[in-house]
Amino acid sequence: MNLLLAWPGNETLAQSLGLALSVPVESPVTRRFPDGEAYLRAGEVRGRDVAIVASLDRPDEKTLPLLFLADALRAEGAASVGLIAPYLAYLRQDRQFLRGEAVTSRTFARLLSGAFQWLVTVDPHLHRYHSLGEIYSIETAVVHAAPEIAAWIKANVESPLVIGPDSESEQWVSEIAGAIGAPFATLEKTRRGDRDVEVTIPRIERWPGHTPVLADDIVSTGRTMVAAIGRLAELKRLAPVCIGVHAIFAQDAWQALMAAKPARIATCNTIEHPTNAIDLTAALAAGIRKLV
Ligand code: R5P
Repeated sequence: MNLLLAWPGNETLAQSLGLALSVPVESPVTRRFPDGEAYLRAGEVRGRDVAIVASLDRPDEKTLPLLFLADALRAEGAASVGLIAPYLAYLRQDRQFLRGEAVTSRTFARLLSGAFQWLVTVDPHLHRYHSLGEIYSIETAVVHAAPEIAAWIKANVESPLVIGPDSESEQWVSEIAGAIGAPFATLEKTRRGDRDVEVTIPRIERWPGHTPVLADDIVSTGRTMVAAIGRLAELKRLAPVCIGVHAIFAQDAWQALMAAKPARIATCNTIEHPTNAIDLTAALAAGIRKLV
């Protein structure tokens, strides 16, 4: 791969990836016509292996322009076009829960697989799929944030107790906790609606005095973390450090989380956000090198 294109909003990560991979970074021309249609212009790419760095939070506004750009790059003679999407959207609807529902994960995977030759992402939110290969027909590489999260906790939190968002996260939080010799627990979560979450935190009385570290793969509405912070306060525990891999922070999520008064919020730089503190550049560069 010998050219990185930074999708708007992804310039910081694209630049650090460019440095790590010794690849130049450019920005495609993107704008909107007054009626909302997208305008895209590829640069000089003939014979070059190109990758676009585009995290796919807020995917509906990005996907169509991204497909247009991939098409323009191919038309201009790019030798290959890859996608570095540190956050990969549309994985939650992985089956029909009600008759007639769109299984958006499959359609989205088909669209991206038709436009790109390869895809690198970080900790995709796979639930019923075992791997991206079940729905993506292109080469994919998955980068795991756990080692960098563990290193960050070790450097920044005294006597941590790592707490995952639900029982399904047990393997993930145990990996983080195991890497730094810390204990771990998982929340028991009941979600009654998008913003209505109730949690309990079983068995944490075994670790009095530890600093709770809430670690989640996605912070979307932030309500899982807000509920956990409330529960920890009821249990008279220290205010937790909140760690998220993907800082989506939908609508008022960041304000709601700040209002709950965690000790600190730290996210990985898969989505550009003021809370980014855990740098995945090296891990992503290694994942990209595996494919190209
Ligand atoms: C659940 O499967 C995830 O690990 C997160 O706990 C969830 O997506 C967080 O969502 P929210 O921030 O909306 O509570």
